[in-house]
Amino acid sequence: MMGTSVGILGTGKYVPERRLTNKELEQMVETNEEWIVSRTGIRERRIAESSQATSDLAYEASIRALEAAGITADQLDLIVVATITPDMFFPSTACILQEKLGAKKAAAFDLSAACSGFIYGLANAAGFIATGMYRYVLVVGAECLSRITDYTDRNTCILFGDGAGAVVLGEVPEGRGFKSFKLGADGAGGDLLRICGGGSRVPSTEQSVTERRHFIEMNGRDVFKFAVRVMGSAAEEALAAAGIDKADIDLLIPHQANIRIIQSALERLDLPEEKAAINLDRYGNMSSASIPVALAEAVEEGRVSEGDRLVLVGFGGGLTWGASVLVW
Ligand code: UT7
Repeated sequence: MMGTSVGILGTGKYVPERRLTNKELEQMVETNEEWIVSRTGIRERRIAESSQATSDLAYEASIRALEAAGITADQLDLIVVATITPDMFFPSTACILQEKLGAKKAAAFDLSAACSGFIYGLANAAGFIATGMYRYVLVVGAECLSRITDYTDRNTCILFGDGAGAVVLGEVPEGRGFKSFKLGADGAGGDLLRICGGGSRVPSTEQSVTERRHFIEMNGRDVFKFAVRVMGSAAEEALAAAGIDKADIDLLIPHQANIRIIQSALERLDLPEEKAAINLDRYGNMSSASIPVALAEAVEEGRVSEGDRLVLVGFGGGLTWGASVLVW
C-alpha cells in the first residue's frame, strides 16, 4: 500500500464509571430488558459525569495509549479526534486535547465521519506518516453521546453510551502494520441518521430546543439494512486490497451498533463469534469510540499477538463506512 510500514504502537481506552442499565431505561421509556437484549444485544452503557466532556474522556484514553506506545506527548506530530460530540463547535476537541496533554508541537484537528470516524482517522494518520510528513500521530475516537441522546425516544435512547479509545501510530517493521483502507460515503442517505439543530441550517433557537432538534434522529430499520450490506462488502474489499483471505482473519473488530449486524458480518466472512471483539453488551454504541475501545480491550486481554491479521470495519451517519486490514 505505501512505502513506509505504518502501524499501531500503543492503544488506550477510557469509559466513565456510571452505568445505565436496561432496567433503568424501563423506568424512562416504554421498553423492556428482553426487547433490548434480543433486538440489540445491549445490557448496559456508560454515562459521563456532568463535569466530563468529550476531551476529558479522550485525555484519559490518550495518556494510556501514549504510555503503551512508550512515547511522550511532546513527541506527537499530529492529533486527530474523530467525534460527533465535540466539547464545543470550536476550538476543536483535538486542540483542547493537545493543551491537556501538553503536546506542544502537535498539529490538531477534529474529523467528522460519525461512527466511521475512527477508521477515517486512521487512514488520514497513516497517510501522513507514510509520506514522511509526520512520525507519531495520535488518533482518538471519543464521544459523549448521552449529551445528544433523546431519553424520551425509545428508538434511540437504548442504544448509545459514552467512552473513548486512542491509538498512537508510527513506523513499524516491514511486513507489519496497515495493509489496506477502504473508505466510502453515500450522502443520499444522510437523513437516516442525523442531528439537525445547532448548525447553520437550523440554528439554535428556543423553537429548535422545544422541537428536540438537538438530539439524534434515526431511521433504525433503514440504517440496519445499510449496515448489514456495507459491513460485509467493506470488509471484503479491504481484504481483497490487502491480498488477505477471509479464512486468515484472526480478529474482527466491528463497529458496535447491534449484535445482529455484527452476526451478519461474521456470517458473510465465515467467521465464528469468537473471532470478533464484542463489547456492545457492556457499552452500547459509542460511535467513533466503539472500535478503538474494542481494540484496546482485545490488546489488554491478550487476544492480539504479533503477526495477527485484524480487520476493522465500521459504518455510520453520513452515510459513511470504512474498513482496514492490518497485521499486528
Ligand atoms: O452507529 C449507527 C447507529 N445506528 C444503528 O446502527 C441502528 C441500526 N438499527 C438497529 O439497530 C435496529 O433497527 C433497532 C435496534 C434500532 C430497532 O430494531 P428493529 O428490530 O429494527 O425494530 P423496529 O424499529 O423494526 O421496531 C420493531 C418494533 C416496533 O413496534 P411495532 O411497530 O412492530 O409494533 C417498535 O415500535 O419494536 C418497537 N420498538 C421497541 N419496543 C420496545 C422500538 N424500540 C423499542 C424499544 N423497546 N426500545
